[in-house]
Amino acid sequence: MTTDTMRALVATGYGEPEQLTIAELDVPRPGPGQILVKIAASTINPTDLRVVTGGYRDLVDLEFPYTLGNEFAGTVVEAGPGVSQYGVGDEVFGLALPRQLRLAADPVRPSLSTGALAEFAVFEADTPAVAHRPAALDPERAVALPIAGGTTLAIMDTAKIRPGETVLVIGATGAVGLTLIPALAAAGAEIVATARTAEAADLLSSLGAGRTARYDDYPEDVDVVLNLALSADGLPSAARSLRPGGRLISIVFPPPDPSQLGRDDVELGYVMHMGDESTGARAVAEAALAGRLSTPIARRYALADGVEAATDYARRHPLGKIVVTV
Ligand SMILES: NC(=O)c1ccc[n+]([C@@H]2O[C@H](COP(=O)([O-])OP(=O)(O)OC[C@H]3O[C@@H](n4cnc5c(N)ncnc54)[C@H](OP(=O)(O)O)[C@@H]3O)[C@@H](O)[C@H]2O)c1
Repeated sequence: MTTDTMRALVATGYGEPEQLTIAELDVPRPGPGQILVKIAASTINPTDLRVVTGGYRDLVDLEFPYTLGNEFAGTVVEAGPGVSQYGVGDEVFGLALPRQLRLAADPVRPSLSTGALAEFAVFEADTPAVAHRPAALDPERAVALPIAGGTTLAIMDTAKIRPGETVLVIGATGAVGLTLIPALAAAGAEIVATARTAEAADLLSSLGAGRTARYDDYPEDVDVVLNLALSADGLPSAARSLRPGGRLISIVFPPPDPSQLGRDDVELGYVMHMGDESTGARAVAEAALAGRLSTPIARRYALADGVEAATDYARRHPLGKIVVTV
């Protein structure tokens, strides 16, 4: 290591993405079981912004400055004591929550970091949410995958779609939805996907959606509803779309309660993806290299333009992932 300070995308208090800033911080040091990674790419995600706008304030009271960033690809530049999985020069990628969000991480092997939207970040080495990056998966393709790809694998595992089932995907135009639609198509689902614009509808059709629906106009008698967008107050209208005995699976936090569906003749499921063995970095890399998983990238930004990246993410409805290269 030749440098002591680095640039990072930080919040200095709760506020809108326009109030984020690029700050000069000390380079973090790896402790036992940790690796220091020179970041090549990171992303902006819903959680990044929900945390800094105060959306989870009742769960965690942030200390500032708070460095954003969950997904990363980069190169190991230092390994702390006891790290056997990685050495200096290894290319790695994955998903790790900023340490202040520890209570939302896997309690057994939490994947935590000092914040990935920075030139350097420290990660825990012993977690399936982090893995070596295969050379065939470039850093930008890799960094787009851990959340949307891992969540897609987790949804497919929970939903157990049978060929010919009708599946309504609500929130299909986000990073998760655009990764999920081809997986559903490959499973033989008849897909109805929500779209707000003609551009979104065209993209969804090209990915395998047979039909699109407006946000306020769901089809009837579907077998499965996958909710990637609605909070609890929107669930009754989503549930009305199901045939009796159908299943609604949500990924939107907090986990809903069956009493919030407005009917009791359907099943409710919830998916929480934390990056375990079956959905972590190695699993998404294998699925991507096998051609089974890909997350479209909407736009790329340099870290110096990180505030613009976060603002555009919040205001411009990107179709796909916002990747920040470092
Ligand atoms: N439980 C888990 O493990 C897990 C994992 C990953 C993500 N998530 C959560 O899942 C959600 C989706 O994640 P993401 O990364 O795909 O987010 P995203 O990229 O922000 O996508 C959300 C999409 O939903 C659309 N949308 C908003 N309101 C809608 C409505 N009323 N009806 C239909 N579509 C609507 C948005 O389109 P417009 O803005 O154009 O309207 C946007 O395309 C987020 O809440 C995220 O926090 C949970």
